[in-house]
Amino acid sequence: MNRKMWEHPATQRNVAQLVADGVALLGPATGEQACGEVGLGRMLEVEELYAALVAFLQPKSLAGRRVLLTAGPTFEALDPVRGLTNRSSGKMGFALARACAEAGADVTLVAGPVSLATPIGVRRIDVTSALEMREAVLAQLPTDIFIGVAAVADYRPAAPAAHKIKKGAPTLSLELVANPDILAEVAARPDAPFCVGFAAESQQLAEYAEAKRRIKRLPLVVGNLVQDGLGGETNTVTLFDAAGAHPLPPGDKLEIARAIVRHIAEMSHAHD
Ligand code: CTP
Repeated sequence: MNRKMWEHPATQRNVAQLVADGVALLGPATGEQACGEVGLGRMLEVEELYAALVAFLQPKSLAGRRVLLTAGPTFEALDPVRGLTNRSSGKMGFALARACAEAGADVTLVAGPVSLATPIGVRRIDVTSALEMREAVLAQLPTDIFIGVAAVADYRPAAPAAHKIKKGAPTLSLELVANPDILAEVAARPDAPFCVGFAAESQQLAEYAEAKRRIKRLPLVVGNLVQDGLGGETNTVTLFDAAGAHPLPPGDKLEIARAIVRHIAEMSHAHD
């Protein structure tokens, strides 16, 4: 409808009544209208309607829970134009944020530098470096569930240059210092939420994932081989918890995210 029709008090009264009756509204979207005006009143795009309907029909296994996630790579500045980063696409973390929102959770996603669309209903905080990611995460605590999906850089340049580093010297050495481990820090707090870690390994997945679970004291670690997941649309993961290893069937990242959410919902309810 036209934006004036949408904004009309009679329309708004009726909409408020429908919402009070428990009717879910999809939209309206804002943008150009057939009459040439711009504003609220457009139908959502078909893909958005489809995603919202699918989300509506998911089991609400995390209703009333607060979930905080990290996703994507971090970027550690060397100088104003260069830095150290990695090939994490953020897709798995964004899919998990979406699956948590579909399951009825109140979701906050702290995202490193990626150009992915924010899933519907997810609150997003953009950060660049590991130190910024840590600050953003700590500022959002307490939460019920924390899922560290980000590929946080383990090291950062010790002294980033204020100005662009000029070429000339035959060799250039970089001194790196360790970044804080965000997940381990959150898991060690007295008010620790139910913490889930990711282990992306290039070999010996079970040993390394299980070791991360024990060292960081996590109830659940999601392990995958980097050759299966990094950057792509699909993934193959195994869940590691106190009961052992649970391989999930390979699938697209959203299907896998929904399966992980089901596991987290069962485990975290038992944890309460
Ligand atoms: N993680 C984190 N902060 C860091 C490093 C990792 O929060 N500084 C989290 C990741 O989000 C992931 C988990 O810890 O959930 C595992 O990260 P990973 O980099 O695979 O493990 P590391 O402990 O850094 O070990 P390594 O790099 O030696 O494999």
